[in-house]
Amino acid sequence: MSDLAVPRLIGHRGAKAAAPENTLASIRQAKAEGADWVEFDVKLTADDQPILMHDETLERTTDGRGRVAETTLAEIQRLDAGAWFAKPFAGERVPTLAAALDLMAELDMGFNLEVKPCPGREAETARVALAVLAARWPARRPQPIISSFKAESLRASRRAAPQLALGYLAETLPPDWPSQVAALGCRTVHPGYRQLDRDLIHAVKTAGYKLLVWTVNDVDLGRSLLADGVDSIITDRPGALAAGLLQPA
Ligand code: G3P
Ligand code: MG
Repeated sequence: MSDLAVPRLIGHRGAKAAAPENTLASIRQAKAEGADWVEFDVKLTADDQPILMHDETLERTTDGRGRVAETTLAEIQRLDAGAWFAKPFAGERVPTLAAALDLMAELDMGFNLEVKPCPGREAETARVALAVLAARWPARRPQPIISSFKAESLRASRRAAPQLALGYLAETLPPDWPSQVAALGCRTVHPGYRQLDRDLIHAVKTAGYKLLVWTVNDVDLGRSLLADGVDSIITDRPGALAAGLLQPA
């Protein structure tokens, strides 16, 4: 399991601290900050199109209203997904997964695709997202990690693309995480940082998994997690973390 290559830093929802999350601008920002990889969230529109979006509703990250699962792609693509963050980003659109993949290929980036289904769409979100990935992401490029909080999405991902590495996401790892992670066939474990201590890091690593931790925006915390054996830091501030962690002093 340890042959899987993961980067030290991954930009969260692109580079969420400096650009509107889950947009093409945010992916470009992560690249500009030096990130080789980004994480982003994928869910389906009412007409089953995979888009980059974190919330189940449109209000927080666009100028629209209502539920993503009840809104078509055409309606969503008319919305502004940048002005809420800062005026220079006005006009930014909610990207399709296909558009995000094209941009990352152009920028020579890798990614962690989080399957973030609206309720009841756990399996189909994974199925549709991975079909787009198969059609659109060149096989010769580094392959992504597919993660999810939802076991049903991970099971559907395994059926759709058994060759891809799966990531077990949890804010807090449950006591039975070893059996869950093994049963789902995951190769990476992605806990929130708050619960982590050296014993848990050691347990995940000795079980043979790559350990990717979110959302770490503090340089000192990132340094200590990497020193304790964490493989990868998922951060809103990839530039600041790279400067603090990866450059020689
Ligand atoms: O994948 C790490 C992190 O993105 C999981 O939480 O809510 O930010 O998608 P969330
Ligand atoms: Mg996410």
